[in-house]
Amino acid sequence: MILRTPLAAGHQMQLQLQLLLLPSVLLLVLHLLLCDAKTVNPGDGMQVQHHQMTAEPGLPEPRAYMPDAQHLDFVYHDHEELTRFLRATSARYPNLTALYSIGKSIQGRDLWVMVVSSSPYEHMVGKPDVKYVGNIHGNEPVGREMLLHLIQYFVTSYSSDQYVKWLLDNTRIHILPTMNPDGYAVSKEGTCDGGQGRYNARGFDLNRNFPDYFKQNNKRGQPETDSVKDWISKIQFVLSGSLHGGALVASYPYDNTPNSRLLKGICRSSALCAMFQTYSAAPSLTPDDDVFKHLSLVYARNHAKMSRGVACKSATPAFENGITNGAAWYPLTGGMQDYNYVWYGCMEITLEISCCKFPPAYELKKYWEDNQLSLIKFLAEAHRGVQGFVFDPAGMPIERASIKIKGRDVGFQTTKYGEFWRILLPGYYKVEVFAEGFAPREVEFVIVEQHPTLLNVTLQPSKYLVASGTSTSTKSSTVNRRVTGKLQLSPE
Ligand SMILES: *[C@@H]1O[C@H](CO)[C@@H](O)[C@H](O)[C@H]1NC(C)=O
Ligand SMILES: *[C@@H]1O[C@H](CO)[C@@H](O)[C@H](O)[C@H]1NC(C)=O
Ligand SMILES: [Zn+2]
Repeated sequence: MILRTPLAAGHQMQLQLQLLLLPSVLLLVLHLLLCDAKTVNPGDGMQVQHHQMTAEPGLPEPRAYMPDAQHLDFVYHDHEELTRFLRATSARYPNLTALYSIGKSIQGRDLWVMVVSSSPYEHMVGKPDVKYVGNIHGNEPVGREMLLHLIQYFVTSYSSDQYVKWLLDNTRIHILPTMNPDGYAVSKEGTCDGGQGRYNARGFDLNRNFPDYFKQNNKRGQPETDSVKDWISKIQFVLSGSLHGGALVASYPYDNTPNSRLLKGICRSSALCAMFQTYSAAPSLTPDDDVFKHLSLVYARNHAKMSRGVACKSATPAFENGITNGAAWYPLTGGMQDYNYVWYGCMEITLEISCCKFPPAYELKKYWEDNQLSLIKFLAEAHRGVQGFVFDPAGMPIERASIKIKGRDVGFQTTKYGEFWRILLPGYYKVEVFAEGFAPREVEFVIVEQHPTLLNVTLQPSKYLVASGTSTSTKSSTVNRRVTGKLQLSPE
C-alpha cells in the first residue's frame, strides 16, 4: 500500500489514514508472527538463515471443503468443459491464477496448465515452484477432477483460510489436470480395469515414454511427453505429484531398476502374477529414499484411508502404510517420476488414488473428501529442507551451478537467479557446489524440522582460469546427466 499524504492534510485525512493503517499493522504483526527470522552468519562467504516458512506450528489445518459455496459440480468434465472452467476461473481470479498451454495432444487438444499463486504470472525469486499432473493415463480421470476441485478450493478459500493463503503466498503451484486428453476422450465412465483410453491417440503409454536412467528407451517421443519435458526443462520444479487410478498407494522412485529381468509392467492384475511379484520384485532405492518415503507418507497419512494399506482386491497387493517403492511394486521403463528426479532433481511421486480407474461420477465427492487434505499438505512439503542462492564474489547470481548433497549423488542446478532448493529431513548435511570458472565448494549445514534452512553460497573464481573458449551451452539435461554420473545404484 502506497500512501502519499499531502503536507496540508486535514484532520479528516489523518483519520482515514489511521483507519487505513490499522489493517496493515495487523498484517505486519501477523507477518512477524509467521516469519520470525533469525539469522546466523558463520562467515566465510556463507550465510545461513533460519526463517519460519513451514505452515506448522502457527497455522490451523486447512478448512474442510464446503461444496455449496462452489460452482464446480462433482461430475466428469470433458475437454471443452474443462477448458471453459479454467478460462472462467482465470478470468474471475486474475490475481491468483494464470492459464497457459504447454502444447497440444495429437488430436489438437491443449495441455492446459493453471498456475495458482499470489504471483501467478511471475516466479517469486527464492520461493519454490511445484506441480501436479493428472490423467497421464487417459482412463484414470479421478485425478483430473480432483485437480479441478483443488484449483477451485484454492481460489475460493484464499481470503478466508490462513493455510491456503500462506501456501499461495509462498509457492507457485502449476496444475496440469490432463496430460492425455485424447485418451480421456475414448475412456468410459464406470470402467474399473482395462486399457481402453490409457494410451495417447497413437497408442503410446505416456508413462513409458520418457528417457530412462537405467535402460535405453526406444519408444518414439510423443507430443504430450515432449511438451512435459520442455515444460520441466524451463521451470525448476521442486516437488511434484502425478495422479493415477487403479490402486490406492503413494509410489516413489525408482520405478526402474538395473536388474528388471523377468518382470513386465503388464503383470499387475492376475493373482498368480501378484504373488510371484511379492517374492521377486526388489526395491530400487534412490539416495533420497528417506525423503521419498516421507513425502509418500505425508500423502498417505493425510488421506482418509490410503495409509491403512488395504488391498483393492484380494488379488492385488496390500501396501504397508499405503506407500511403496515403484520398482518393488513392478519395475517399468520410461516413467515420468524417475525422469523428473534424475534429470532435474524434482521430487515426484506417483499417487494412485482410486481402486477403480474410472469410477462413476457420483463417487467423485467422496474422492475429493478423501484426498483434499493430502493434496494440499503434500505441496507444503516444498518448504522443508534447504534453499538458497549461489553468487559470485560481486553478488551476481550464478546460473546452472551444479549442486549435490553429499552422499545423495543425484544432482540439480541453480536457476537463472542462482536459486536452489532441496527437500531434506532434519540432520547434518554437506552440499557440494560446482560452476564453470569457479572453485568448487563444500558447505556444511543443519536441517531442522520447524523451518527450512536458508543457505547462500559464494563461489570464488578458480585460480587457473584458462581462456575459457569451451562451450557452456550444454543442455541442462546433459549437464545433469553428467552430475548424476556417479549415481549410486541401489545395492541388490
Ligand atoms: C540470500 O540471498 C538472498 C538473495 O539476494 C537474500 O534475499 C537473502 O537475504 C540472503 N540470505 C542470507 C541469509 O544472507
Ligand atoms: C487484484 O489486485 C489489484 C491490486 O492489488 C486490486 O486492485 C484488484 O482489485 C484485484 N482484483 C481482483 C479481481 O481481486
Ligand atoms: Zn496409471
